[in-house]
This record gives sequence, C-alpha cells and structure tokens, in this order.
Amino acid sequence: MQTDGSERLYKKALKLMPGGVSSPVRAIDPYPLYVHKASDSRIWDVDGNVYIDYCMGYGPLILGHAHPAVQEAVTQRLKLGWDYGTPIEAEIALAERIQKDLPSIEMLRFVSTGTEATMSAIRAARGFTGKDIIVKIEGGYHGAHDAVLVKAGSAAISTASSLGVPAEAIKNTLQVPFNDIDALSDVLEKAEPGCLIIEPVMGNIGPVLPETTYLTEVRKVTEENDTLLIFDEVITGFRLCTGGAQCLYNVTPDLTTLGKIVGGGFPIGIFGGKKEIMECVAPSGGVFNAGTFSGHPVSLTAGIATLNVLNEEGYKRVNGLGDLLRRMLVDLLEELDIRVTVQGIGTLFQIFFTEKPVKNYQDALTSDVDAYKKLAAFMREEGIFLAPSQFETNFISLAHSNEDVEYTIRAYANAFKRLCNLDVDTAGY
Ligand SMILES: Cc1ncc(COP(=O)(O)O)c(C=O)c1O
Repeated sequence: MQTDGSERLYKKALKLMPGGVSSPVRAIDPYPLYVHKASDSRIWDVDGNVYIDYCMGYGPLILGHAHPAVQEAVTQRLKLGWDYGTPIEAEIALAERIQKDLPSIEMLRFVSTGTEATMSAIRAARGFTGKDIIVKIEGGYHGAHDAVLVKAGSAAISTASSLGVPAEAIKNTLQVPFNDIDALSDVLEKAEPGCLIIEPVMGNIGPVLPETTYLTEVRKVTEENDTLLIFDEVITGFRLCTGGAQCLYNVTPDLTTLGKIVGGGFPIGIFGGKKEIMECVAPSGGVFNAGTFSGHPVSLTAGIATLNVLNEEGYKRVNGLGDLLRRMLVDLLEELDIRVTVQGIGTLFQIFFTEKPVKNYQDALTSDVDAYKKLAAFMREEGIFLAPSQFETNFISLAHSNEDVEYTIRAYANAFKRLCNLDVDTAGY
C-alpha cells in the first residue's frame, strides 16, 4: 500500500503544528492518513487508498459521510450567508426538537464544542448550587478545559493530567471509579459536591457500559446528597437512540451536555436542563457564557437535517448492524482462540486487549495498547480505518452495510493472523 503522500504532508505539518496535528489522537504512528474525500462509509486518502471508516469523525457522522440531506441543507444555508451574530429561527427549531426528544432539557444554550458545553454546564452547576467541588468519573473525558484535566488515581488528592493546569484549577475536582456506587456515595456524603459529571456510557476509554442498576443508583444518591447530576451525552446523545442514554436507561439528569451528532458533523455543543438552573445563565442570570460562533447557522442547519433523517427504523437497523459486527467478531476471536474482550452497545464497538470485562478505567488500563496499535495499523492495510487508540470507540453509521461488516470481519481475521503469527487459512471468513 502506497502512503507516500500522507508521509510527505506529515513531514511538512511537523514543522508547522505541534506533533503535526490539530488534535493529539490524530497523530497516528508513524504518520496519519491525510484524507482527501469521504462519502457514505468510506474515506479516501491523498494517495488514492480507500478505507471503510469506523472513526466517523469521532462520532458525529451517524448518517455516514457527505449525507445528501445534510449537504443540500447546508448548501441552501450558505446561499443565505452563514454568520450573522444575531439569533436565527433555526436555533428555535433545533432547541424545540431537542426538548421534544430529551424532555429533561427544559432550556438550553448552544455553544461551539463539547468542551465548551461541559465547561459551561459545570459553571452553571457551581453557580446554581454555590458549591465549588465537583466529582467526575475516573477516565471520563469531558473535553480539554482545566477543571476536568485530572489524572486518574486517588479521589482525595487531584493531580493535573496536563502541564499548564494550575493546581488551584483542579483542587476541587474529585474522582470515583465507574460502576462503583459505594465509592460515589462515600464521596458525595463526605465532600458535598455541587455536581457529578458522568458519561452514562463511557466512550473515551473505549465503550464501557453501566451495570444494570448503576445509573438509577447514581440518580438516587446524587438526589439524596443535593448534588446536581450532569449527563455528558456528547457521544451518546442521539447515538444510542433518539433520547440518548437518559432515555435508554430511564434516568433523568439535572443537566445534559450534547455535541457531535446534533451538529451533523459541524462544530457544536449544547448544555441544558432544568429551567431553574439554566435561568442562572447570562443574560437572564449571573453565570457567564458567551461565544462568537455559538449557535452557528451552518451547524444548526446540519444538525436539524441530521435529526430529520434519524428515525426509529434507522436506529433499529444501525444498532442491529452493531450487534452483528460484535457477534461476528466474538465468534471469530473464539475460533482463532484469541483472548481479548469485545465491548460496545448499539453502534459503538471496541476490542480491548485484555481478557476480563472492562467495567472501569483501571480495567481498561490492563489492555495491551501496543497490540491494539499494531492491529489498527494492520487493519488500515486491509482497508479499514479504526480509531487509532485502544482508549477510543469505533462508530458504525447508517451508511455502513452488511457487506461492509462482512468485509471488516475478514480484515480482522487477516490482521489477527499477522498480529498473533497464526497458521490459519482466513480465506473462509
Ligand atoms: C463525552 C465527551 N464530552 C466532551 C467532549 C469534548 O467535545 P469536543 O471535542 O467537541 O470539545 C468529548 C469529545 O470527544 C466527549 O467524548
């Protein structure tokens, strides 16, 4: 496979941008693919290689690449201009749609990224409760702002996970493991935090599901301790089903953050929830939030067009494809006698290079990250673009087909054959 064009561009980029990229996860070893175009389930790199894409922009593209309905809506919007610095009707249309599908969101504010959404939701929770302490889940990712850049480890002493984050900025951020209700109850009772921010299905250490009653218990103990519950549904919102994880697990948070899918592949973030909390946000209240590009017309238009395509039948089909892929993958790995763990839900999937089920961040850390990297590289050579890190999630879209899944399983068979030096005939897969 020729990838000289990507290599050449990366060498140039290294002189211009830190690590040659605009976001760290894109810095694939030895160099990233430079993508020229994308359509449906496929991306083409600058060297003309084609890949079935399971990265899907890290989640926004549930309809697949370049969906005609989104393309048409955005094209029409562009003809009218694209940045006015005034409210537009599309804001109301998307807000009403979101309110209908996620009734816990009584009021919302549009921002430009998921990072801004979680930063603003936390500020609103702190402003509303008057409490500075927040709790997050170990290994949970809520974007690149100071308060949540905390290293995994002890709940008692927080250490920044990035240089440049002042100790002051994270001293009020405590952490507990996912799926551990006792640890959460304990910290809520002792520290009396203003809020808990949690991905209801973890997506940023690979997909990790809540155990049966975990989220219900999370709601119960947060309520009992006067702690606001923020569901970070930047990944899960409109991905698992129309109403997101809060609908699927029947748990009502106080605040929700959204992003990715609700912008149809254009930059967006949303935070919203109970009216009494959201009314604390400026200009109706004293919690400051603002943004030049907040509620950007193109993002709103693409978001509305995307949500208009999504329906129950579509979710059934695409989630079914996820079930099929995970089932075929489990069967393949059993046949090849490879002891790794396949996890996911709906359109999310990942192979953890560890034998035991992954229930929290510490479990995820037992994975062999080098083996995953090699597998992802072999898969690229097979024409499959997977999330390049063990601690990311792969995404299926409505543009993926059964044939794509079958091709992908054959590619996994070939890639594992190389990775594990297996002497098997993979032609039958
Ligand atoms: C759960 C979650 N929250 C927040 C964010 C931050 O969103 P953004 O990258 O749009 O700032 C992400 C990004 O992947 C995410 O997965």
